[in-house]
Amino acid sequence: MDQHIFTAVDEFVGATLLDEDEALRGAVEAAEVAGLPSIQVSPPQGKLLQLLVRLVGAKRILEFGTLGGYSAILMARALPADGRLITLEAKPEYAEVARGSIDRAGVGDRVEIRVGLALEALPVLAEEEAGPFDLVFIDADKVNTPNYFDWALDRTRAGGLIIADNVVRGGTLGDGADPDEATVAQRRLHEELRGDPRVSATTIQTVGVKGYDGFLIALVEGA
Ligand code: SAH
Ligand code: DHB
Ligand code: MG
Repeated sequence: MDQHIFTAVDEFVGATLLDEDEALRGAVEAAEVAGLPSIQVSPPQGKLLQLLVRLVGAKRILEFGTLGGYSAILMARALPADGRLITLEAKPEYAEVARGSIDRAGVGDRVEIRVGLALEALPVLAEEEAGPFDLVFIDADKVNTPNYFDWALDRTRAGGLIIADNVVRGGTLGDGADPDEATVAQRRLHEELRGDPRVSATTIQTVGVKGYDGFLIALVEGA
């Protein structure tokens, strides 16, 4: 079992169950042309995000880490017409690519991109009383995933979801001796959630076109 099989399966799933249109392919291509790293969610993962948006009946979404707008387009398309997605991106040049792709995908009116470090955007969002959110997708700088999660937890409604990408990190999540600070952060997040009555969570390991990783899904419990 190795990478070419993981990729072939993602391609088969893409050809059978997914419905990537010209605008989505265009978003990936625009990112590639502009030299953005190809680290967007895989098409099957993106479809899962869409299903989750629909399952929770999300109207307000917060995303950490826009990149070229691929996951934002998918989630925004799963929103009702009056739904809104705010996405946070540190790099202005990435945000500009994302803006174009999001607009071309027909969801420009539902998506707001905030440029700057997410940790600096959060007090502004709090000040504006943005939220409560129905779904939060954490996919920016991995060392801050626990910090973003903490913030999101106070601002996600009961029954809402917080999803964190890239928590498994090639399996290093299972290694308490791994010194990588991004891994240490994901382990800390899991430890912090141990016995926390405010959420019920799990982590699912994934293989696919992006290799071996995984995401944490947390359901926010009622008060
Ligand atoms: N969610 C995207 C992929 C995001 S990749 C998708 O699936 O399509 C991670 C992104 O987080 C990158 O664009 C990176 O520039 C951004 N990022 C990194 N550190 C950040 C920070 N401190 N604040 C906001 N964005 C950050
Ligand atoms: C990286 C970031 C991601 O969000 C991802 O899904 C994969 C890789 C990265 O920064 O390398
Ligand atoms: Mg990611």
